[in-house]
Amino acid sequence: MARTSYPRTALAVLSFAAFIALGACASGSESGAGSDSTGAGGGGDVITIGFAQIGAESGWRTANTASIKEALSRENGFDLKFSDAQQNQENQIQAIRSYIAQGVDVIAFSPVVESGWDAVLQEAKAANIPVILTDRAIDSEDDSLYVSFIGADFVEEGRRAGEWVSENLGTEPITVVELQGTTGSAPAIDRQEGFADAVAGNSNITMVDSQVGNFTRAEGKTVMEGFLQAHDDIDVVFAHNDDMALGAIEAIEAAGLTPGEDIKLVSIDGVKDGMTALAEGKISYIVECNPLLGPDLAEIAKKVVAGEEVEKRIVTKDEAFDQEAATKALPDRKY
Ligand code: AHR
Repeated sequence: MARTSYPRTALAVLSFAAFIALGACASGSESGAGSDSTGAGGGGDVITIGFAQIGAESGWRTANTASIKEALSRENGFDLKFSDAQQNQENQIQAIRSYIAQGVDVIAFSPVVESGWDAVLQEAKAANIPVILTDRAIDSEDDSLYVSFIGADFVEEGRRAGEWVSENLGTEPITVVELQGTTGSAPAIDRQEGFADAVAGNSNITMVDSQVGNFTRAEGKTVMEGFLQAHDDIDVVFAHNDDMALGAIEAIEAAGLTPGEDIKLVSIDGVKDGMTALAEGKISYIVECNPLLGPDLAEIAKKVVAGEEVEKRIVTKDEAFDQEAATKALPDRKY
């Protein structure tokens, strides 16, 4: 199966919008789902939207859920049905099936892993319910299974982290360990690829170990404890998210070492706890991954229900922070 591609350009135009939007309008009016004329959705009716969230594995995910709930509020014209899959694909599939059975106007979800979605998304398509992907991509040859995908360029995030390591740590040999996100998930696959690409031409950098920490602080700590036992010469930790870096910091400190001095950490997300550790010098560099996807999702959902064309791919913009930039940004940080 071919993976959904990650274009560098911000927007690509939707081809399937007209068909799916017609279906969406029919679904809303015929099912009578949320037909309340006080809302601001589509033609004035409330838009019923089912959102199948991955879980609550990280600070990023918590901020993402808050953004979605705030943007898809009743005041904004939505009747949101929200479910938490606890990092389990089967739970997400069941939630999507239940939204199809309820005849919602739109389904949105962040796929916990890339593959295995075709069957349930075919069911949504057969029911004329448009699907919007947020945050993570799916691996499918059929891109008619969703109308839009809103999220970051994860390969680019990994590349920026790798470039920082390549460009800022001198010419002496550097050993790196990697804390990977959930196996089979788009950010784990793509960030690993981007980082590896960026350091590939630098012969003084060696990746000595790479293990899964599932994007959680607890597993980041456990995996780092294992790395410290297995290797006595770790220079850099590349963590696929801040939470795993924060867990690794606990393990490094418990081993009597100083994060930021004995071992440098580079991570991705830019959540408040990560940015605080960066400002304190415990993390050395963070590439941002913006979790505030709610407003874009609300806008795209309204357009789809109104029968308007929407962009097939919306790439969110990310910054990157060193210690000075994090110290400056922290007071106004929203997540
Ligand atoms: O898909 C985005 C990733 O998922 C975030 O980097 C991570 O913190 C989250 O769990």
